[in-house]
Amino acid sequence: MTTLTPVLTDNWDTERAWTLAAYEERGGYAALDKAFAMAPDDVIAAVKESGLRGRGGAGFPTGMKWGFIPQDNPRPKYLVVNADESEPGTCKDIPLMMASPHTLVEGVIVSSYAIRANTAFIYVRGEVLHVIRRLQRAVQEAYLAGHLGKNIHGSGYDLDLVVHAGAGAYICGEETALLEGLEGRRGQPRLRPPFPAVAGLYASPTVINNVESIASVPSIIVNGPEWFAGMGTEKSNGFGIFSLSGHVRTPGQYEAPLGITLRELIDMAGGMREGHELKFWTPGGSSTPLLTPEHLDVPLDFESVGAAGSMLGTRALQLFDETTCVVRAVLRWTEFYKHESCGKCTPCREGTWWLTQTMARLEKGEGTEADLDVLLDQCDNILGRAFCALGDGATSPITSSIQYFRDEYLAHLTHGGCPFDPAASTAFPSSMTTAAGATA
Ligand SMILES: Cc1cc2nc3c(=O)[nH]c(=O)nc-3n(C[C@H](O)[C@H](O)[C@H](O)COP(=O)(O)O)c2cc1C
Ligand code: SF4
Repeated sequence: MTTLTPVLTDNWDTERAWTLAAYEERGGYAALDKAFAMAPDDVIAAVKESGLRGRGGAGFPTGMKWGFIPQDNPRPKYLVVNADESEPGTCKDIPLMMASPHTLVEGVIVSSYAIRANTAFIYVRGEVLHVIRRLQRAVQEAYLAGHLGKNIHGSGYDLDLVVHAGAGAYICGEETALLEGLEGRRGQPRLRPPFPAVAGLYASPTVINNVESIASVPSIIVNGPEWFAGMGTEKSNGFGIFSLSGHVRTPGQYEAPLGITLRELIDMAGGMREGHELKFWTPGGSSTPLLTPEHLDVPLDFESVGAAGSMLGTRALQLFDETTCVVRAVLRWTEFYKHESCGKCTPCREGTWWLTQTMARLEKGEGTEADLDVLLDQCDNILGRAFCALGDGATSPITSSIQYFRDEYLAHLTHGGCPFDPAASTAFPSSMTTAAGATA
């Protein structure tokens, strides 16, 4: 069995891990002097060589993104950390910032130095006031210790770091909507090009990276790119935090090399809850197509999960057992997307409304089989036609659930309601509680 590789999570159970004293006692901030002894371009080269790919969902190579910043552009450069974390099921950045905010602050300093930014921002989801306070305190401690501010560690490099609280909108995790929000406007995605690397925050060259991507940088600088590249799979290097939630015995954060399988992770988590079996799961949050027990041995790396018909996303592994109604779960997610649609483009603004109407009818057993085709047609009119990936994501749970659990949708129609509802007249046939072809 692949073992866990705690790096980002290694200090989480130490006494008052979030304080500067605890962080420094375990070697924290050692990456700064090492990075300052290197030319900024060499830091970028090291991150490229490590093979680190963005941990915010899309998996874009981090070093390559940094290399896009035009250094001959006279405008200031900015680093913006995406700490909006609002995808249903995704729950890794918030624990990381709560347990060890200095890991992120250290990563911000090294990354900003590499792209030659003198101002950086951490954009945090507005609802998590406890995280905002913890980050603010960590930033204050870092200033007082000389890790931030003017002439850091006598290197001649200056950096200011601002913690910005968003107003609590899922769309503000989309990087260009985030920039709009940071500039004080309504959070709606921007047209690209220009890309943020050329004209991002205040029309200046900007790198936007996920919390976990930036927090991984200090360990790469301290241990070397080969160390990082030595973990994971050929094209998905390194480790990542896998968040297990739902009907598993020990939910939580499991930091492991990319390429570990869900079967291995469930074993480490003590199995599914007693007497129950896995029915369906999301590999990377609710925007990634559902998978079933037949995918338990798919390596959780970008390529393999893609080949299995889904996406690695944020490694938000939500596990549902046979007591869960897939139609009801998908309806809840669809309501979320409808609520969070920013309204900028018609396919998503109107389409997500229509999706909830059709889904709700089916869930109550009031539709007809033809509604399934209507639903797929509605998805088809959103996928690839919406202005940003929120619209595409809204269709993923619907199309994948119909692919694997069509019979369960039909059972709602024959039962005249949800067969999982205790008040329903007939019990749900056990043969329908697993996906077609699944080997639970
Ligand atoms: C609707 C929507 C929400 C998103 N939410 C987040 C988020 O909360 N955190 C995040 O890092 N990326 C989020 N993303 C992805 C970002 O747009 C962007 O790709 C990411 O921050 C890049 O960082 P990375 O290269 O380090 O992964 C979201 C994208 C979309 C379309
Ligand atoms: S897809 Fe949805 S969230 Fe994205 S721009 Fe269009 S309306 Fe807004």
